[in-house]
Amino acid sequence: MFSDFPVCETIQKRRSVRTYDTRPLSGQDLEKLLAYGKALQNPFGVSVTVHFLETGDTSTKKLGTYGVIKGTKTFLGVTVPKGPLSLEAVGYSFEQLVLYATHIGIGTCWLAATFDRKAFTGAMNVGDDEWMPVISPIGYPAEKRAISETLMRSGMKSNQRKDWKELFFNGDFQTPLSRAEAGAYAQPLEMLRLAPSATNAQPWRVLRQDKAFHFYAKTAEGKGEIDPPIIQRVDVGICANHFCLTAQEQGLSGSLAASGAPVNADAPENYRYLFTWMEA
Ligand SMILES: Cc1cc2nc3c(=O)[nH]c(=O)nc-3n(C[C@H](O)[C@H](O)[C@H](O)COP(=O)(O)O)c2cc1C
Repeated sequence: MFSDFPVCETIQKRRSVRTYDTRPLSGQDLEKLLAYGKALQNPFGVSVTVHFLETGDTSTKKLGTYGVIKGTKTFLGVTVPKGPLSLEAVGYSFEQLVLYATHIGIGTCWLAATFDRKAFTGAMNVGDDEWMPVISPIGYPAEKRAISETLMRSGMKSNQRKDWKELFFNGDFQTPLSRAEAGAYAQPLEMLRLAPSATNAQPWRVLRQDKAFHFYAKTAEGKGEIDPPIIQRVDVGICANHFCLTAQEQGLSGSLAASGAPVNADAPENYRYLFTWMEA
């Protein structure tokens, strides 16, 4: 699925929005957003369903965000069948919707923690065989952020991102990948780096080996975790969307698939392989 918006420009413009203008979304903007949400595709072939929720009527009165989100009562939620790569698919697809929303002037904020999960899950009729990892408020951004939002952003250093040398590697995990060595892929990697992540943790790590870019999730050290936690898999899906859409915009062809962890990568114990972009 092509993006229908200027990718690099939109990625650089996007910020989480927690303070909204109380003016409701226009019917036209909402229609465009929901139509885009219905047409979403991802390289993992997983069906991601976007739900629209308006809080305040009798059935959804309790939907709340503990005061984190101000000025809107309108939300989107996502459900996906439980299965391999389905959380990565949520990250990939929902981020594309977030970018499209940014492009048409609608604010969003990925929420995985600060909302009443039980109430939202009930309102979306989430089945036992499904995950509902995240929701997002939608609305027009207010001119000024609430103080609580400004404090939250400074606490998480939301305007900052990790350096290339912490994130991208060349051949093995002992050798950082420089911008010069990345060549035509410097821009897709730079746009990946700007992706949003839960608590701004940026758990993605990318290892280049010849024509392959292997995507890993960095899990907590010393906890002996075999699988990355749900939210880190979503985060890596988000950054893969930025990488793939930018590659597409730059005319670079390739495809994303889970093709098996590379050999001799010397990956730290807490790095988990997820999938690979293979240059065509
Ligand atoms: C998967 C995911 C979950 C998130 N969960 C929350 C949340 O529960 N509450 C919240 O206020 N922000 C949440 N965020 C927003 C992040 O804090 C934010 O993306 C990060 O600080 C970077 O800021 P930016 O999005 O403005 O670039 C989440 C982001 C992602 C990607």
